[in-house]
Order: sequence, then structure tokens, then C-alpha cells
Amino acid sequence: MKLQDRSVVITGSGSGIGRACAIEFAKAGASVVVADIDLNAAEETVKKINASGGKAFACQADVSNPASVASLVETTIKRFSKIDALINNAAIQINKTIADTSFEEWNKQMSVNVGGAFLCSKLFLPHLKTSKGSIVNMSSVNGFFVEPSCAGYCATKAAIIGLTKAMAIDHGHEGIRVNCICPGYIDAGLAEGYFQSQANPAQARAEAGKLHALWRIGRPEEVAQVAIFLASDDASFVTGSAYVVDGGFGSGLPPK
Ligand SMILES: NC(=O)c1ccc[n+]([C@@H]2O[C@H](COP(=O)([O-])OP(=O)(O)OC[C@H]3O[C@@H](n4cnc5c(N)ncnc54)[C@H](O)[C@@H]3O)[C@@H](O)[C@H]2O)c1
Repeated sequence: MKLQDRSVVITGSGSGIGRACAIEFAKAGASVVVADIDLNAAEETVKKINASGGKAFACQADVSNPASVASLVETTIKRFSKIDALINNAAIQINKTIADTSFEEWNKQMSVNVGGAFLCSKLFLPHLKTSKGSIVNMSSVNGFFVEPSCAGYCATKAAIIGLTKAMAIDHGHEGIRVNCICPGYIDAGLAEGYFQSQANPAQARAEAGKLHALWRIGRPEEVAQVAIFLASDDASFVTGSAYVVDGGFGSGLPPK
């Protein structure tokens, strides 16, 4: 198995893409720390993994809180003694223009989406140095291809691409690889939240599919497979990259 004897921490793995990553990483042989602010959701993910013979445990962690991330690091090392991969996936999405976004909302989104990746990366770095491990950050096509009424979110996803490239440069000589994934619309929590924020959610969902060349939105498992590739030795010469997993987002023109 590709990730046999590897241990991985996946933030925001109580639902959506993070949960799919946790399940698929466990199938690939990894021991998984299912970290989420919502402990019940994290435990639900762990149940699914354990039911199919995988190894995982749930840890409540708020990625925007330094003490909480420090405790996540401590628990991870106590349980698995090392970490080989960190998947910075947790995020929130506020669907507003800057005119409608309060300073509190801006700070909250920044501190979870960007601050969370900063804190987890910083505090797991000493252990990743030892294991010559890797980091996979979850960005979005919204990091470079913006859409209306989610300006703050787009800013956080662009910041994640910059953080990825900068960390890859700084830590490559230590044997640490840092990459990010830029998914298109994926059938998971944040896209669903966006559909629900629209006047006609069903129509918004159908229209979102047509923004992609493949004329559908993606499945969380399709993102998880790329995360597994990036965290595995198959990607041993891949660092500083922004992997687009978007079914051809932006090129979904109707056929003639
Ligand atoms: N769904 C999409 O269409 C899509 C597209 C592109 C990128 N992404 C990215 O994929 C990632 C996951 O998105 P999703 O749609 O699966 O979302 P989701 O809402 O289904 O899952 C996010 C998880 O993060 C957790 N979380 C929120 N705040 C947290 C915090 N402070 N600390 C720890 N955990 C916290 C939530 O409890 C939840 O379980 C995000 O980084 C998102 O930006 C999603």
C-alpha cells in the first residue's frame, strides 16, 4: 500500500473533502489523525475508517487557536510517535462582497483559512523535518479564478498558494515538500453552503456543473486521490506546485 506505516494529520476531516481524504488515506495504509473543530463529526469519520479496518483517531482542534494546535501536535506525537504528512484542509467560506463583510468576518475567515495553515505548518514543522515529510494545503481555483460575492474567501485561497510556494522554497533543503491543491466545485460542505446562499440553490448547483469542461462538479474522493499522490513518494520531486483538480473549470462552454 502506497502509504503503509505513514501517519497523517488532516484538518477539517469531519466532513466533505477532508473526510474523503481521511477515508482514502486510511485505505492507502496511513494512520490518520482526524482533526476537526467539531468532535462529533470527526468521530463519525473515524467510525467509517475503523469499520473498514483502517487506523484513525479523532482529535478536536481549532486550527485558528495556537493552544489548540499545540495540543493537536502533542496528541499526534503521543499516539503515532511521528507525522509524515500534514493536510491543511480546514476552511470556512463567507459568501459576501467586501462592502458587506464585517472586520470580524474578515478576521475570522483569515484566521481559519490562512492562520490555520500557518499555525499547523509551524507547529508540525519540527516533526516533519525529522520524518522528511510533506504538507498538502487545500487552496481552490478561487485562488486565481475569482467569482462574485466571496472576495475574502478568494483572498484566503490566493494566500494559500503563496504560502505553499514560499514554504517550499524555505524548507526544501530540509527534505520537506509543500504543495497545494486547487479544486473546482466539489460536492462537499462549502460548495453546498454557496448553493444554499443563492436565490435558487438547485439552479445554482446545475449551473455550477456547467462551469466545468466535464459538465459536472467533482467528488471529494477525486480530490483525495491527488492529495495521496502529493503526500506519497510518487511525488518525491514535486514541491511548490498548485495542482488543479477542477474538471476544466472556466472552460465549460456549451457544445455547438
Ligand atoms: N467544496 C468545494 O467546492 C471546494 C472547492 C475548492 C476548494 N475547497 C476547499 O476544500 C476544503 C474543504 O472544503 P469542504 O467543502 O469539504 O468543506 P466542509 O465545510 O465540508 O468541511 C470543512 C471542515 O472544516 C471544519 N472546520 C471549520 N473551521 C475549523 C477550525 N477553525 N478548526 C478546525 N476545523 C474547522 C468544519 O467543521 C468541517 O468539518 C477547504 O479548504 C475549501 O476551501 C472546497
